[in-house]
Amino acid sequence: MLKTLIQKTISSKPAKVKVNTDGLDLSNMPQHIAIIMDGNGRWAKSRGGVRTLGHKAGVDSLKTIIKAADSLGIKVLTAYVFSTENWRRPLPEVQFLMKLISHNLSIQLQEMKENNVQVRFAGSRDENPPIVNERMDHAIEETKYNTGIILNLAINYGGQAEILHAVKAIARQVADGALNIEDINASVFEDNLYSKGLPAPDLLIRTGGDLRISNFLLWQIAYSEIWTTPVLWPDFTPDLLVEAIKAYQNRERRFGGLVQK
Ligand code: FPP
Repeated sequence: MLKTLIQKTISSKPAKVKVNTDGLDLSNMPQHIAIIMDGNGRWAKSRGGVRTLGHKAGVDSLKTIIKAADSLGIKVLTAYVFSTENWRRPLPEVQFLMKLISHNLSIQLQEMKENNVQVRFAGSRDENPPIVNERMDHAIEETKYNTGIILNLAINYGGQAEILHAVKAIARQVADGALNIEDINASVFEDNLYSKGLPAPDLLIRTGGDLRISNFLLWQIAYSEIWTTPVLWPDFTPDLLVEAIKAYQNRERRFGGLVQK
């Protein structure tokens, strides 16, 4: 009896997050949402805690938002986890974040698999602790055939570094004679970005109140709609995600052209 109950608990699907879709136009959903998850440190400070407490709470918030986005039918969610500039933070905070990343890549993997999440990454591997890179490779391998939401985690990611990385890769192809300069176009360029194969974000969300891009997806957000909130990342909820999507649905996307009247 107990054995059956345990087996049932283990094999049952993790609970879905309830999302109120009232007022949402389900035929006009963004395919790809990118999020700058800012405000963890302030959230912890406002509770008299240390900054790292905010990062822990940030993981819980991200887990909830992945489930909410999935149940809304969002195809890709890109989350800014650690930037190329975050190495400048005090060493104990950097070490904590790297541990938090490697720990969660390991302990959340089973749930990702059960939820059919496909995990991908954006960013340079060069500076990461080897354990982080190993767990990234493992998560990619274990989820590569999953057909649900694509969770694209930006780790040691910087938009400028990504562009330089692509430029160098393209220059190498030209030098090797594999590519003609005249054939370099937007599509070739995009094939050399970390986001190869993913659509550009339709909606970029930034929490924490600041109104800047912070070196995130500089190429990819050319025509993304931007939505910001003063709410700190650990307090971000599925209701706010829906609010952001509603705001997106009220925008007129012209991509530099004119809307036919
Ligand atoms: C910005 O808040 C947040 C970060 C630099 C880290 C974001 C990381 C997570 C939410 C954890 C995700 C982890 C995994 C494993 C996917 P801040 O520290 O800049 O806050 P502040 O602006 O209040 O100082």
